[in-house]
Amino acid sequence: MYRRAIVTQFGQPDVIQVQEENTLPAPDSDEVRIRIEASSMVFTDTLIRRGIYPYLQKEPPFTLGYDFTGVVDAVGGDVTAFKVGDRVADVTQIGGNADYIVRPAAQLIRVPSHLNPVQVETLLLSGMTAYQMLHRIAQVKPGQRILVQGGMGAVGNMLVQLGLLHGLDVVTTVSADNFAPLRTLGAEAVDYRTSDAVQQLRTLGGRDGYHAAFDGVGLSSFRRSFGLLAPEGTLVPYGFVAPARNVTLKTPLGSLIGGAMFASSSALFSLWSRLPGNRSVKGYDLVSYRREFPQAYTQDIQQMFALLETRQLNPLIHRTYPLHQIRQAHTAFSQGGIRGRIVISHL
Ligand SMILES: NC(=O)c1ccc[n+]([C@@H]2O[C@H](COP(=O)([O-])OP(=O)(O)OC[C@H]3O[C@@H](n4cnc5c(N)ncnc54)[C@H](OP(=O)(O)O)[C@@H]3O)[C@@H](O)[C@H]2O)c1
Repeated sequence: MYRRAIVTQFGQPDVIQVQEENTLPAPDSDEVRIRIEASSMVFTDTLIRRGIYPYLQKEPPFTLGYDFTGVVDAVGGDVTAFKVGDRVADVTQIGGNADYIVRPAAQLIRVPSHLNPVQVETLLLSGMTAYQMLHRIAQVKPGQRILVQGGMGAVGNMLVQLGLLHGLDVVTTVSADNFAPLRTLGAEAVDYRTSDAVQQLRTLGGRDGYHAAFDGVGLSSFRRSFGLLAPEGTLVPYGFVAPARNVTLKTPLGSLIGGAMFASSSALFSLWSRLPGNRSVKGYDLVSYRREFPQAYTQDIQQMFALLETRQLNPLIHRTYPLHQIRQAHTAFSQGGIRGRIVISHL
């Protein structure tokens, strides 16, 4: 018997059912079966549950879970790269919130077996999004100043930590009760709820402004972040937490709204990039970027594993939930106030 968390129809957390299956899935000759140890519970999973995630066109029922890490449990006849007992991971958009999954061997990332699976899981989407936006997209250099909107978020906190590790000056927006942990890390923090937040950010940005701004908050926040850039600065928009947090509409209207948010932003970005000056807008999506540059993902995740191993990076884990409480984990997102990451533990 094994369990998987299925979305029966798009909607609120009560559409999720943890279902028990009697037969384990069998791998084909080029596939591997994995016993999952830790899987995803991020804001994006809530978009998928609601049917407003424009990068996935799939109708329920399906298994939730953007990514996972686990241990190889069975291998197909042609697979030579992995053996039973190896620890692996993958980013699949759906399917991770299950005790077992079958994946093509060619897709899998090898994970050092001594790393903590819950910490590893935080790197696969959240950590790698931060790492690649900093190093591949904005190509930041030590000594530069960056703005991170939402520095207590899953991606935001990784951006803060990785930025500081790289020798950047980091300024971030959070709610005021999160100032202390961010200032302890070495970042400057501004309360995004205060009326003069933009003015405070402008002051902290100094004479030149920010070399790069990373914004997963969305829409009007993109405009504010763009306005705070240095003359050669780069805005990296990557998400839409603020407008999407309370959208509960189901498809097809929900999908339309999700699509419209992305489309209108793309139109805006191309306009901004044509404004006088050299400021630029460079969007990022991990799944598309990995599809286009698979070697970059494989290389970069090794850097992240090394940072974890040497404890230079300390993923902020808000809470782990067992798979049978996944509905509660989804509910937590509608309230906000999560510090770092929630992870589903299958152990
Ligand atoms: N492009 C990609 O490849 C990629 C990868 C991962 C995620 N994403 C997207 O990026 C977004 C963020 O993802 P996540 O996993 O980091 O979400 P998250 O963990 O929910 O973090 C979002 C953070 O934003 C903060 N926030 C909300 N409104 C804000 C505002 N007006 N100003 C400043 N901060 C604000 C929240 O703080 P409070 O809770 O205190 O309000 C929270 O800490 C989502 O839309 C997600 O779908 C994109």
